[in-house]
Amino acid sequence: MLLAAPRGYCAGVDRAVVTVEKALELYGPPVYVRKEIVHNKHVVRTLERRGAIFVDETNEVPEGARVIFSAHGVSPAVHAEARALSLKTIDATCPLVTKVHREAVRFADDDYDILLVGHEGHEEVEGTAGEAPDHITLVESPDDVEHVEVRDPGKVVWLSQTTLSVDETMETVRRLREKFPLLQDPPSDDICYATQNRQVAVKQMAGECDLMIVVGSQNSSNSKRLVEVALEYGSRDGHLVDYAEEIDEAWLDGVRTVGVTSGASVPEILVRDVLDWLAARGFGDVKAVTAAEESLLFALPTELRRDLKAAG
Ligand code: F3S
Repeated sequence: MLLAAPRGYCAGVDRAVVTVEKALELYGPPVYVRKEIVHNKHVVRTLERRGAIFVDETNEVPEGARVIFSAHGVSPAVHAEARALSLKTIDATCPLVTKVHREAVRFADDDYDILLVGHEGHEEVEGTAGEAPDHITLVESPDDVEHVEVRDPGKVVWLSQTTLSVDETMETVRRLREKFPLLQDPPSDDICYATQNRQVAVKQMAGECDLMIVVGSQNSSNSKRLVEVALEYGSRDGHLVDYAEEIDEAWLDGVRTVGVTSGASVPEILVRDVLDWLAARGFGDVKAVTAAEESLLFALPTELRRDLKAAG
């Protein structure tokens, strides 16, 4: 059995989850959270039990109450809506998502056409696109490129969602550049370090795996990409599961080597459960495949740090 490293929590998810936990401790329940704080069923259920109330839209939060914005970020319109309702906000947007927002604002101010590579309907894309709706065009896949139009091919830049497949994004960009040779790159990688590292680890082990189990939720972009990358790089089979109980015994038929990894929003306890489940079926010998060491940590949101400090 091969176990990928790094896997699981990234710095942005850790910060967002701790933000809700600390807010519950400090202010007491209920604490409202707009959208899933991170895209993981187990995390959301656990926080719900502790008194977090997850809502889809800002206007579901009672006037004057406290609301936390999720790690995926929100558009300026959402901030404005929160102000109009006199909500007390804590912004748990991952700083690496905020970085992409800033890039969008900067290029829009310079009147660029921004081609945002990402998935329609994903919260992060809605947030980033909302920073400059008149300048941003969403490009979902390499095949989308033929339909993309810009005002001035000399003033075009691409940006991306942070949790995409690196290879597919590069293919999209290659085709965009064929069409718009003066296309500018983002000032630094938008696909974040955590997404990249988890994919590199999977690439290193996929060729040896008959089956890759990725622990993660269906709405988690980076987790889903890990299954795709595993299949592309040689794993014969691959599945995304939230919990060990979802693994089908039939998947193990004829399997000699299983690979395990987890998305950036997945608590390690869920991976442990999968390892126990596999060990009980003869896959107890675990070999780590380490692609990178990670040590990044983000400070908690300023609003929360201020209140924690005041509370002593
Ligand atoms: Fe941030 Fe990347 Fe995690 S953008 S929330 S560090 S997956």
